[in-house]
Amino acid sequence: MENNRRNFLKKCSLSTIPFLIPSTSLNELPFSKEKTNDNTPVNFIFDGLALSPSQYLEKLQDINQSAAIEPDFYGNGGITKRLEDRFIELTGKERAIYLPTGTMANQLAIKLLNESNTKVIVPENSHVFRDEADAAQSVHNKRLIPIGKGKAFFNLTDLKDIISYTDKNEVFKSGLGTIVIENPIRRADGTFIPIENIKEISKYCKEHNYNLHLDGARIHIACAYSNISLIEYASYFDTIYISLYKYLNASGGAILCGNAKIIDKISHQIKILGGTVFQSWNNTAVALHYLEGIEEKWSKIVSTATKLISSLNQLNGVSIKSLKNGTNIYDLKLSKEINLKKLANYLYDEHNIWLGRANENGIVKFTVNESILTRALEEIVNAWRTGIKKAME
Ligand SMILES: Cc1ncc(COP(=O)(O)O)c(C=O)c1O
Repeated sequence: MENNRRNFLKKCSLSTIPFLIPSTSLNELPFSKEKTNDNTPVNFIFDGLALSPSQYLEKLQDINQSAAIEPDFYGNGGITKRLEDRFIELTGKERAIYLPTGTMANQLAIKLLNESNTKVIVPENSHVFRDEADAAQSVHNKRLIPIGKGKAFFNLTDLKDIISYTDKNEVFKSGLGTIVIENPIRRADGTFIPIENIKEISKYCKEHNYNLHLDGARIHIACAYSNISLIEYASYFDTIYISLYKYLNASGGAILCGNAKIIDKISHQIKILGGTVFQSWNNTAVALHYLEGIEEKWSKIVSTATKLISSLNQLNGVSIKSLKNGTNIYDLKLSKEINLKKLANYLYDEHNIWLGRANENGIVKFTVNESILTRALEEIVNAWRTGIKKAME
């Protein structure tokens, strides 16, 4: 089977690959396009800083210099344990465990929560359903039943309908054990699910003895835009997974939180899958570093983004709009006179500001992250002002 990288990126909805990367070599992500002697890039593409290898190494050095990093041993102890303990505090769950990937975290949560039940209801647009290579079916003997096709998220009525449909129409009952929610929703431009919807589903699941798992890969971003704390989100779920590399800037990794009954079984399962890594401190030290003050940081990102967008919207021909239930992804549209490619190239070459490509509707998914805190807003706006002039020539 050909694993075509361009196709993979497209399917992952990374349609916003920057212009500076020639379309013939999409395998070059921006990380390899490092600019030397330059300031931190302001990127309007990713959820995090997209650190280059040398920036990553520098960051690890800084972290190690301020307090020597204590390594873990096969995931046990050291800074990995400190990160897990921090997530226990942040989520209010009994246990937290590091895993090498979010895919493994989701799959193992589903497998263990579901026990001997075979059916798991998952959002049709979720990472679990679309992007985990049918692992539930092929590795864990679980049958994923998609819900909410064509919608950003499903509601309690959709859930009741699908449960009663399978109850009525399937002869051999093999049991439903778990429901999955993804929030924020990657395939719905990062929008968050209204809290009332989550509350209703959670209450229903508790009443009917179904377990509820949250794929919260980017949960802190949802927290910042919905004003719901992580501890509150976590309280509605039995297990919650959070990514260490989306906005916590590690080079990979995941955390799964839940009660001892589930989480204490995870490390054995990781080993079975061949995922027990000798040392993971290179990921957990960076994630722990960026986790400190995360709530204050994201509230600053939101307020800074609001100011930035309001200033950019005053430039002729620029329209940036937030989405309903939107988080850090906004719709950017330029007037016909502005050549987006010229603007993006100018911003990159002269200011190390990264802008993504437009989709088929001419919209750029303009994404904000903590890189906007690294530069004076005036400087960013002035760069755009000049760039727009040049892009009209
Ligand atoms: C919503 C969501 N869940 C899970 C994952 C899986 O994470 P990992 O790449 O660590 O397997 C991703 C990664 O893109 C994601 O966006």
